[in-house]
Amino acid sequence: MLGHGRDLATERGVECPGDLPAPSDPGLVARARAAKEALGDRVFVLGHHYQRDEVIEFADVTGDSFKLAKEAAARPDAEWVVFCGVHFMAESADILTADTQTVVLPDLAAGCSMADMAAIDQVEECWDELVEAGVADVTVPVTYMNSSAAIKAFTGRHGGTVCTSSNARTALTWALDRAGRGGKVLFLPDQHLGRNTYVRDIGGALEDCVVWDPHRPMGGLTPEQLRDATMILWRGHCSVHGRFTVEAVEAARQAIPGVRVIVHPECRHEVVELTDEVGSTEKIIKTIAAAPPGTAWAVGTELNLVQRLAAQFPEQRVVFLEKNVCYCSTMNRIDLPHLVWALESLVDGRVVNPIRVDPDVAHWARVALDQMLALPGETSKD
Ligand code: 13P
Ligand code: SF4
Repeated sequence: MLGHGRDLATERGVECPGDLPAPSDPGLVARARAAKEALGDRVFVLGHHYQRDEVIEFADVTGDSFKLAKEAAARPDAEWVVFCGVHFMAESADILTADTQTVVLPDLAAGCSMADMAAIDQVEECWDELVEAGVADVTVPVTYMNSSAAIKAFTGRHGGTVCTSSNARTALTWALDRAGRGGKVLFLPDQHLGRNTYVRDIGGALEDCVVWDPHRPMGGLTPEQLRDATMILWRGHCSVHGRFTVEAVEAARQAIPGVRVIVHPECRHEVVELTDEVGSTEKIIKTIAAAPPGTAWAVGTELNLVQRLAAQFPEQRVVFLEKNVCYCSTMNRIDLPHLVWALESLVDGRVVNPIRVDPDVAHWARVALDQMLALPGETSKD
């Protein structure tokens, strides 16, 4: 269960050890402001688009996971990078920043259920089985940013790359090219992003995709299925985006004539197929910001972002796509009390919840992350 146990090799969080300020403390906003002011340029606060408003207010930069990774790497002067997001993002920031900088995650229980669906020993075992099936030497691994540093390192060791939802098409095109004729991609850990990118963005066939189930011998696949496949998709998904349904898209279209539906590519393929637009959090924001006034949007992504968009663009009608989806519980772990605790501790000379990736893991994960940053024409444009 998320937030329980102490298995640090996975994305599962651990208990928060701090003496947190009470959430009811009316002085929290003033305390956060004062602490930030006292720390000045020595601290840099990053905020993912899914964070609560009360936290976003104190972010120096907001962005999707790709933009935030680049922003972290571009601030060599900040002694501390406080990452308001989830564990795998903070790990990537630690890998991309200098050894003299420290990345802080205000609540260590801010993990990611999708990242938890691929453990490094399962991935190593999968690779051994691909070797046994005689396909490993034509397979290039690609891991979504939403994975542990150990899995990014695995990808680096095996000549692959990392991708995010904003550059998945470029990364997958690169990997397929590298795999060559008859080659394959092992896509970790989000089957939906892998399938959507391959079919929708690259024009591949659904039949070329197989799903590797880490809980079954040989992933539940036959050697023939593996040999015939182009995309070997890890059986992982986002517990938030996996809940958006075809029925919700149909209901939105019926309720709001002319509505445009935009969703994150972590949604299931049958949902993505029905929508008008698909894109990373950054792309969703830019699309709505650029839309003509009076247009209506049903948005399938995390609720904090959708609510913020509705407030920011009152000239549009922005609604949440699905009534049966709730906030990302782990993103929401970072709240104002945790942020105040992390910042005030720094003011007192104590670094709480530092994220430090093992140097060997960090080295290989950096190889994969650098490969991503070097992809042709890559910017956080989507
Ligand atoms: P982005 O890559 O769009 O920031 O999304 C990250 C994420 O966790 C989506 O669920
Ligand atoms: Fe992970 Fe999904 Fe939450 Fe993103 S929204 S952090 S993929 S659980």
